[in-house]
Amino acid sequence: MNRSFMNRTEHEYSRAEQSYAEAEQKAVHYFNQLHQHVTQRTYESGLIEDFRQWKGRHVSFTSRLSRWLPVKQRPSAKDYQRYIHWLHTTNKLDPYLHRSVAYIYMRDLGRALDAPQTQQRVQEVVDSLRGKLLSSATTTDAQLPEFMSMDGVYRWAQREGVEDAVIWVLDKLQQVATNIPAELNAEQAQRKLIKIIVGVVLHATEEMDDSVSQQERSHRLDEAIRLGYSYGLTYPFIDDILDSTLLSAQEKEQYSRLIRTALLTGSVPKLGDWSGSQPELIRYIHSELREAFEYIKARQRPGGGQQQFFEQAYVFFQAQDVDRTRTLDDDTYTNEELYVPVILKSACSRLVARSILNVEEDEGFDLRTFCYGIYNQLADDFADMFDDLANGAVTPYTYYLKYHGQRSDLLNPFQMYWAVIHYLLHEVYHSDEQTREVILDRAINGLKRAYERLGASRYGETMELLTAGMPSLNRVVQQMVRHAEDVDFLDKLLRDSMLVHLRQDREQQTEFRETVDTVREQINGTLPVEKREGMLPTNELLIDAVNYSLEGSGKRLRPILAWVMAVRHYGLQQEAVMPMLRSLEYMHTASLIFDDLPSQDNAPARRGRTTLHELHDSATAELSGLFLIQKSIREQASLSGFAPPIVLKLIDYSAQKAEELCTGQAMDLRARGQRLTLEQLNDICFYKTGAAFEASLVMPAMLAEAKESELAVLRAFAYHAGIAFQIKDDLLDFKGDVVQLGKPVGQDESNNSSTFVSVLGEAGARREMWNHYCCALEALRKLPVGIPFLKHLLDYIVHRER
Ligand code: IPE
Ligand code: IPE
Ligand code: MG
Ligand code: MG
Ligand code: MG
Repeated sequence: MNRSFMNRTEHEYSRAEQSYAEAEQKAVHYFNQLHQHVTQRTYESGLIEDFRQWKGRHVSFTSRLSRWLPVKQRPSAKDYQRYIHWLHTTNKLDPYLHRSVAYIYMRDLGRALDAPQTQQRVQEVVDSLRGKLLSSATTTDAQLPEFMSMDGVYRWAQREGVEDAVIWVLDKLQQVATNIPAELNAEQAQRKLIKIIVGVVLHATEEMDDSVSQQERSHRLDEAIRLGYSYGLTYPFIDDILDSTLLSAQEKEQYSRLIRTALLTGSVPKLGDWSGSQPELIRYIHSELREAFEYIKARQRPGGGQQQFFEQAYVFFQAQDVDRTRTLDDDTYTNEELYVPVILKSACSRLVARSILNVEEDEGFDLRTFCYGIYNQLADDFADMFDDLANGAVTPYTYYLKYHGQRSDLLNPFQMYWAVIHYLLHEVYHSDEQTREVILDRAINGLKRAYERLGASRYGETMELLTAGMPSLNRVVQQMVRHAEDVDFLDKLLRDSMLVHLRQDREQQTEFRETVDTVREQINGTLPVEKREGMLPTNELLIDAVNYSLEGSGKRLRPILAWVMAVRHYGLQQEAVMPMLRSLEYMHTASLIFDDLPSQDNAPARRGRTTLHELHDSATAELSGLFLIQKSIREQASLSGFAPPIVLKLIDYSAQKAEELCTGQAMDLRARGQRLTLEQLNDICFYKTGAAFEASLVMPAMLAEAKESELAVLRAFAYHAGIAFQIKDDLLDFKGDVVQLGKPVGQDESNNSSTFVSVLGEAGARREMWNHYCCALEALRKLPVGIPFLKHLLDYIVHRER
């Protein structure tokens, strides 16, 4: 090892150790104060008084009766849209949004709610949120509000001028989603990552006022998105991995060492030999973390911010590491040993989210955030206590559940929780009324949720154990749990619907892949053109050539899409529509044979093989193409399970689309060397590529005699999806992998073709692709019955590598 490196590491090491020691001291001090409050029971009478003032807005005569009266019309919070609508019609929406937004400003942004500025901001956000929630209450996607969907996010990016960062982060999130190891809870990992990104972006937004120019604003938001991802990655890829069973004890040690060095130096060291399990996965994780650290490091101001970020992250990591080594079997931990790491990790995770942005230090923020952490952590640990216990995780709750009988010195975590609440309300937030409102709302809501989750008897037993030392406060609390209303929060609602959505999305994606694979197999089996007995030898040669083109690594997207529409969506018989599926692939393959000819793109390879004209000659290629087109028409004419006029209409329609394809190819060739407008580009791509996608959707709909209104939606979807597909093709031609693609890259440039990339540049092409992605999704929403396959097809189109 190089000497200067050693010195530097040692230096960083001592600095980091020192900041850990300082933070620990602060935590010990805070812990001692809280400890005293718990033992002296000073919080009880104070909180009883707080509840007395609080309950006026939450307990009414009818709510007292509500246990016996059926609650009219209140929809389940699981049905997100109906719930928002119900809040609106019962005049509960405003207070609901108010407490939700205020809570986020306090928890996630570290604000003091009694500051007039904060109050004004909260009100502004409430107003705009109300508008958004009510306007999105009409979408068909029942799980998520529009502003939480992919197209909603991208439309926001367009308004803020941060398309590139959002495209980048969406690609990254997609990669993370596909690479999440089975040992982790995928949805939770994705959710946490998204939450961190949103948190950092919110911080950045709040740091800017009207004096910041639009350009500067875009720039800062762009950075915040990338920083948020870079930091957020540490949750699944450091914390969750070390908590999971993915790695052996020894591998965990090696991994921890690597991370510690990274935090000390700001750079992830080389992975070196990884003899352990799943080397490919670890290499991916390592390279992502490495890139993330580089990004963060390059954006930290030397001196102030950089140290702050890495030091805090180090303290965060250390505290978690200490926490991780605890086991439930050890009955000797002191209260301090149990609580101090909890205080540290919960405080640091929030402090880091701000310090990563290099914003100015804010003592009020630091103090509030430091004290706040443990409150939040204890609320989470309360909710998870039985799961944690089953998993053998040590938290103040699980430890107390296990050892309260034999260790009379152990602090009761529930009393600690109320002591923290009292401390926050009166020592940190100056007995502010708003703060009292939201914190007590939240506390009662948490208990109501526990009651629902655990059921009456288990809840009762748990409470009996946990509240033994605070009987008078407990009486009030349980009364509130029974009678208080209007204590729910939007972030919980969003969290729940996001989890449902992420899970469903994952399942649908798996189903999408399975469908694609199985249908492709079936189609592949039926494509080869058969030779007949007694054929002319030349005819046989032509069939060989045709089959050669068909056999390559074609993706079969068009017939797969048509299969899904025909069989799954319209319920047509697979056997009956097989000729239509073949006709689509024959027509498409013919178009590729012509496209590759020397007179057009002059391509040497296609579908992982030498092109037909290179293998034989142009004449053979041309004749094979023509042969396939005729074959395609014969397949259509053989559709026997449908009324003849419908089949005739289908043939006519298909011929029209083939005409459009020819027109598109001609326009494409004539456009070489020209600078096209966006409109011209869209036209060309629709004709040359989109038309075939349209046919794959519309032909099944014609056979199923679908309504014209549905056909219109499908055409709109196909238009945008087809163009998005072609833009991705242009992007892959620009920067794809030859082996994966099975066709050459850089063709467009050498042909001087006018493509989305040549006209708009790489980033511009990507934006346009995402724009079409959004338009396609927006079209899909108009379908009376959703077709999840189409949504996943779109995701596939924009993320594909081949
Ligand atoms: C290639 O289509 C031609 C374009 C429209 C860009 P595909 O990418 O679907 O090609 P195969 O069928 O998988 O070979
Ligand atoms: C061709 O577009 C579209 C067709 C319908 C043939 P490209 O010329 O970009 O297709 P590739 O890249 O050769 O597959
Ligand atoms: Mg071409
Ligand atoms: Mg081509
Ligand atoms: Mg191309």
